[in-house]
Amino acid sequence: MSKLWGGRFTKDTDKLVEEFTASIEFDQQLALEDIEGSLAHVQMLGECEIISLEDAKTITSGLYTLKKKIEAGELSYTVEDEDIHMNLEKHLIEEIGPVGGKLHTGRSRNDQVATDMHLYLKRKTIEMIGLIEDAQIAILTQSKENVDTVIPGYTHLQRAQPISFAHHLMAYFWMLERDKERMIDSLKRVDVLPLGAGALAGTTFAINRERVAELLGFDSIYPNSMDAVSDRDFILEFLSAASILMTHISRLSEELVIWSSQEFGFIELDDSFCTGSSIMPQKKNPDVPELLRAKTGRVYGNLIGLLTVLKGLPLAYNKDMQEDKEGMFDTVKTLEGTLKLLAPMIGSMTINEAAMKKAVTQDYSNATDLADYLVTKGMPFREAHAVVGQIVLHAIQQKQYLLDLEFSVYQQYSSLFETDLYDVLAPENVVATRASTGGTAQTQVRKQIEMAESKLLKKQTLTK
Ligand code: ARG
Repeated sequence: MSKLWGGRFTKDTDKLVEEFTASIEFDQQLALEDIEGSLAHVQMLGECEIISLEDAKTITSGLYTLKKKIEAGELSYTVEDEDIHMNLEKHLIEEIGPVGGKLHTGRSRNDQVATDMHLYLKRKTIEMIGLIEDAQIAILTQSKENVDTVIPGYTHLQRAQPISFAHHLMAYFWMLERDKERMIDSLKRVDVLPLGAGALAGTTFAINRERVAELLGFDSIYPNSMDAVSDRDFILEFLSAASILMTHISRLSEELVIWSSQEFGFIELDDSFCTGSSIMPQKKNPDVPELLRAKTGRVYGNLIGLLTVLKGLPLAYNKDMQEDKEGMFDTVKTLEGTLKLLAPMIGSMTINEAAMKKAVTQDYSNATDLADYLVTKGMPFREAHAVVGQIVLHAIQQKQYLLDLEFSVYQQYSSLFETDLYDVLAPENVVATRASTGGTAQTQVRKQIEMAESKLLKKQTLTK
């Protein structure tokens, strides 16, 4: 059989052109969505008496035969038939004869491909939401075990103030929570049916788009046929949400790499998540977080790629839009791989509480607390900041920490100091007293964890 669109041509397509324009190599991933869309379309055609019920039945059973063959991996595709839509139509006609040619009544590949993409991305977005939640659960579980673990908190990667390790981890929980919310919100825009838009202007047949939406489980239909076939912003939105998500995962990965270095030694990743060196026998490399950090690049690239493809396109469909697929598939695959590793990696890492504690006792990260102490005794904060700055300088010169300085030294700097200052400076107290809402005090972190747990349950029912 020749090309499905061969009627007005007098020459065969150049072989290189055929290969260059074909999308079958990658859009065969949409085979089942294509069948699903066709099944709903043909049922509607029958119900609306656009084709006979008998023809609709024949086509339906032909489509089911193809579905079985796809699932069994028995269907072969050719570049001559360009894309998944024409490959499947060809197979259908081979299967059931010329009546198969009635399937494309009132439909174009333009609304067909858009429908396939909506079906695909809706399914994948729901899957991603579940995977993000798995990573959140892993973070939450580690956090619950580490509320009382004290670690230095950093700004500018310089020791700043001691914090609960759970507080640090939970920051990522909330980032992922927003990522999940972005994905959930994007479903509103994915859950819209383009089919029935035809090539661009609608169709002369009395179709019932609402019925097709109902059959496919779409929440609404595109009100404008040109928008329906030209819109790819539902993909851009997914790629944007994915990019932000990867930014968060990359930052967490960077911290895992730093924390597992010999210099920090705060955590140890499980052996099953690391690899060795072919030359240096002692090495245990954090390849997984390194790669998660690096994979962020391709996810950004896929977003920028599609933004660029779309930016200059006149309405309606242009072949340029075929370039929407590989980046989307790649981002889905990358996110799946990333999220599936993240949860067990976090769950299996060991926390070196002693190293964290040691770090906190060998720095000046309790200096703010000393200044706050003077403030509670009546000194203006700015003045207290200057006094403590001088004490820190003195301690550094003496190679001592604030807890090591004799009380007589403190008395030289201010008469407001009393011996209770040593209790104030102890790392556990430093953490425990930051009890403002959302602060690192253990009481606050426990509240935060409770809030997080209730969020999870809510979202699980929301996404079914
Ligand atoms: N393979 C095409 C794509 O992915 C399907 C739509 C083709 N439409 C057309 N008028 N050539 O975009």
